Amino acid sequence: MEEQISRILFSREELLKRIDELGAEITRDYKGKNLLILAILKGAVPFMADLIQHIKMPLAYDFMAVSSYGASTHSSGVVRIMKDLERSVDGVDILIVEDIIDTGLTLKYLKENLSARNPKSVKVVTLLDKPDRRKVEVKPDYNGFTIPDEFVVGYGLDFNEQFRNLPYIGILKPEVYENANE
Ligand code: XMP
Ligand code: MG
Repeated sequence: MEEQISRILFSREELLKRIDELGAEITRDYKGKNLLILAILKGAVPFMADLIQHIKMPLAYDFMAVSSYGASTHSSGVVRIMKDLERSVDGVDILIVEDIIDTGLTLKYLKENLSARNPKSVKVVTLLDKPDRRKVEVKPDYNGFTIPDEFVVGYGLDFNEQFRNLPYIGILKPEVYENANE
């Protein structure tokens, strides 16, 4: 697995240091609110698991799974809900937890869909932001790291469902996806 990574972008230590900062900011901003952490499956799971331990206030968490049609390294813009929330979010302060914002299409769809359910607020925390590839205007309220336009894996991020278990974020060698049959 490791030999298919060309470079480590963020080590586990660097990730945790930044997540500690994000957690402190979120704790400050959401004190006294009815916080629902909404992690987007599957990529956001490791980030969410570390992040909630750095948010020092009562919170609930839930998951949604969405899928965009098309090839695995590109989003097509058509989003489908594969797993929905379990409860009403009426009056709830939703914080969407994403692994990465790329074209922004997934997030734009999610924000619109959730806003229609009458929550108190909808904000976004993403571990990574790749603004160079944005197709629609959407910005995270909290961002771990801004990264260049390279395909990254690890810490929840996958290529063909693999590499999610790496404890760091790394850049995949191009020959790995060039050689893959899709
Ligand atoms: P959009 O383009 O809608 O999509 O913002 C975000 C989703 O696209 C996937 N994605 C990546 N996955 N390495 C990955 O493993 C990447 O570099 C990458 N860029 C986009 C990811 O599933 C994310 O939720
Ligand atoms: Mg993916």
